[in-house]
Amino acid sequence: MLDAALMTPFQLPIVRNLAELRARVRGWRAEGERVGLVPTMGALHEGHLSLVRRAKETAGRVAASIFVNPTQFAPGEDFAAYPRDESRDAELLASVGCDLLYAPPTEAIYPEGFATTVAVSGVSAELEGAHRPTHFAGVATVVAKLLIQAEPDLAVFGEKDYQQLLVIRRMARDLDLPVEIVGAPTVREQDGLARSSRNAYLSEDERVLAGRLNLVLAAMAGALSAGVDVAEAEAAARQALKDIGIEEVDYIEARGAEDLRPLGPGPVQAAARVLAAIRVGKTRLIDNMAVD
Ligand code: PAF
Repeated sequence: MLDAALMTPFQLPIVRNLAELRARVRGWRAEGERVGLVPTMGALHEGHLSLVRRAKETAGRVAASIFVNPTQFAPGEDFAAYPRDESRDAELLASVGCDLLYAPPTEAIYPEGFATTVAVSGVSAELEGAHRPTHFAGVATVVAKLLIQAEPDLAVFGEKDYQQLLVIRRMARDLDLPVEIVGAPTVREQDGLARSSRNAYLSEDERVLAGRLNLVLAAMAGALSAGVDVAEAEAAARQALKDIGIEEVDYIEARGAEDLRPLGPGPVQAAARVLAAIRVGKTRLIDNMAVD
């Protein structure tokens, strides 16, 4: 039953079908292991590896999935260009002690006639949802499917995609999925740029500019925690991006940390997060930080 798994040079089994995935996960659980899942779209970097490490802190066995999910890309977005290098990704996963790579073909996720969408209202609607109206339904649908397929005890997602993390938490709660959704901190480059597979699209000059976004967010979070009015802090952050030469700003806003509700007027009163999406050249980048 399990012999269909391919082995990488680092002995990481690569599983491509549901029956084998379930057999392996159920086998681990029968041995008394807690099972973690790290869903990804591949093009792995240190940020993803930190999610595997986080899963390994509380799960004896960790599977990662790689599936570039077509339904979360709108027409004209970078689905076709999205970087794909499975053998490199498998080596990286093995190097941090991942136990299995689930890399399903499209038909294992979206079989002929697939007609179901998981849509999470409320937290999906604004920020990313306003600019990418079909994105979170694609994310929620594929994550629901992966969680149902893999049956993990916990699944780890990066805070880099903070709104996505809240959407997935809401979805898992609403559907009574028996899984703990864990958020893990954003991993950053030396200049503070949040690690992202899309950073690979940046030219040298764009990369320098992209590295400034986190400074503006940090200054904004600092101003808010010092009691500056929300609208004032947002306007100052927008102006700071402009002064740096970042002209295309989808949003830079402070929102409630639990549900992304709009804040103000006046200073921040409860747990808050600053979130931004900008375009540098042709690359769209998002980032966020907690307001302490
Ligand atoms: O964050 C990602 O890489 C993707 O949105 C996810 C969660 C793997 C769903 O395709």
